[in-house]
Amino acid sequence: MQENEYKRYEEIGNWDFSDIKYTVEQNSSWDFYKEISKYTNSSSLLLDLGTGGGEKTLSNMPDTGMIIATDFSSKMIETANINKKNYPNKRIKFVTMDNLNMNFPENLFDVITARHTIIDAKQIHRCLTPSGVLIIEGVDKYDCWELKELFKRGQAYNDEIAISKKDYSDIKNAGFAEITLQEIVQYEYYKTKEDLLALLLKTPILDDFSELDISSNTHKNYIEKDLFNKYVDEHSTEKGIELKRLLYGIVAQK
Ligand SMILES: C[S@@+](CC[C@H](N)C(=O)[O-])C[C@H]1O[C@@H](n2cnc3c(N)ncnc32)[C@H](O)[C@@H]1O
Repeated sequence: MQENEYKRYEEIGNWDFSDIKYTVEQNSSWDFYKEISKYTNSSSLLLDLGTGGGEKTLSNMPDTGMIIATDFSSKMIETANINKKNYPNKRIKFVTMDNLNMNFPENLFDVITARHTIIDAKQIHRCLTPSGVLIIEGVDKYDCWELKELFKRGQAYNDEIAISKKDYSDIKNAGFAEITLQEIVQYEYYKTKEDLLALLLKTPILDDFSELDISSNTHKNYIEKDLFNKYVDEHSTEKGIELKRLLYGIVAQK
């Protein structure tokens, strides 16, 4: 298990950003949930990996026969079960499970989804039905690049291969027959400095959870004030403080 990441997600306990005020302008028409709708119907069995507190899965996932949503953090699953009470008609079950140690039977799921979480393509391939589909949205190396360049660190900052390319080749090597990879450029505009700071303190954008040296369970991200203010000064626009996101989408058929 990824010990540092596990501790951070247990500490955070939800993936809710509803308190942060920002708007989004997307340059790509690729949309994770619209892609999922194309491959599901009212009898599909869907597995959502690394679901967090189920926030997005509960509100955005199309209605299918049944959704199993997993996360390795039991705190996240606890939150998801609380959030589920607001969606009494959603056919969904939350389960604690490590994406890198999945113990579902072979050929079970029609669709497996993973948004902003780690995957093991071989294990996913095994659990999908013969015509099953994997749909991913990921955060790429060059996400928030101006910010990472300023701080000289961040998620995947030192990676030699972009995460999208690594995922693509792992998925190919796992035996998937048809794979499409789509780059997604998105501009986010944060209303205030505090909104942007709240995002940076909660996510691994600047402090990659996997690279943190966590000596206690109460670790807090550290953001250098002078660098943060410099970024804000240089990226303030009429729409808000701009953050350029670089994401990717993958659809892979077994
Ligand atoms: C960035 S959050 C994304 C949550 C949700 N998918 C979303 O898009 O809102 C990543 C989630 O993946 C979970 N996660 C990270 N590594 C995992 C692993 N090896 N197995 C299962 N879950 C994992 C974390 O606990 C966290 O809830």
